Amino acid sequence: MGRLAGKVAIITGGARGMGASHARRFVKEGAKVVFTDILVNEGEALAQELGENAKFIRHDVTNATDWEQVVTETEKTFGPVSILVNNAGIVIAKPIESYTEEEYRRVIDINQVSVFLGMKAVLPSMKKTTGGSIVNISSINGLRGSANTIAYDASKFAVRGMTKSAAIELAPYGIRVNSVHPGIIETPMVVQEDTKDLVVELANSIPLKRIGKPEEASNLVVFLASNESSFSTGSEFVIDGGSTAKY
Ligand SMILES: NC(=O)c1ccc[n+]([C@@H]2O[C@H](COP(=O)([O-])OP(=O)(O)OC[C@H]3O[C@@H](n4cnc5c(N)ncnc54)[C@H](O)[C@@H]3O)[C@@H](O)[C@H]2O)c1
Repeated sequence: MGRLAGKVAIITGGARGMGASHARRFVKEGAKVVFTDILVNEGEALAQELGENAKFIRHDVTNATDWEQVVTETEKTFGPVSILVNNAGIVIAKPIESYTEEEYRRVIDINQVSVFLGMKAVLPSMKKTTGGSIVNISSINGLRGSANTIAYDASKFAVRGMTKSAAIELAPYGIRVNSVHPGIIETPMVVQEDTKDLVVELANSIPLKRIGKPEEASNLVVFLASNESSFSTGSEFVIDGGSTAKY
């Protein structure tokens, strides 16, 4: 039996990158999966690949009405939501002086406010299940800072704090909430034509001398989503090839 058999999951930002990897793996582990994104073509193509145990919904994670529709549609299709993976995110990298207020607010909206909206929207449904699990995707930039990512780092630190607050509040309902802190992972967010040299340089700075694969992050997310992590809540789970172990 799959490690997520009987579970119903919502995964945001699931059309590509790590979200798509989580969706593929969740279906393999026996979950029914609604994955959402603003990238409609990629999302529909993945839904075709995954078959009847997965459904794609176009969803802007910054929009509360969209969230309500996603939860309603998930319940109607597969039943009450037992897992939420708040994965959608963006990065805008530039120095503080050239960062616009609009860019700053956009990053906070997509990476941080969305996590609040998502947790709020799923709770009535999740309270109907036993053993709910919310996995909030932060970053190693939610544990330490780096230059040129002022809004990203603020949003990812916030996700870490929100996770702890929600974990304490939701423990009486048997709902666990944890944050995942990936280092550099091979996805379209990081690996592009013009970042190839930078990625090689970054890989060399990682103790394991390589960047991570989305599937490696999925291993951790499956563990947190499943009952195997039943005594873990409010915790930070790092997957970074040793990056944060160094001074
Ligand atoms: N790749 C890395 O090295 C890395 C490291 C640490 C943390 N992360 C985090 O992991 C998560 C997944 O990132 P990824 O690397 O797979 O990147 P990605 O760009 O491949 O995937 C992110 C997905 O989020 C979607 N998205 C963006 N804005 C959205 C919105 N408003 N509504 C709905 N969907 C939206 C995108 O369309 C995309 O499909 C993000 O939260 C990211 O910050 C990534």
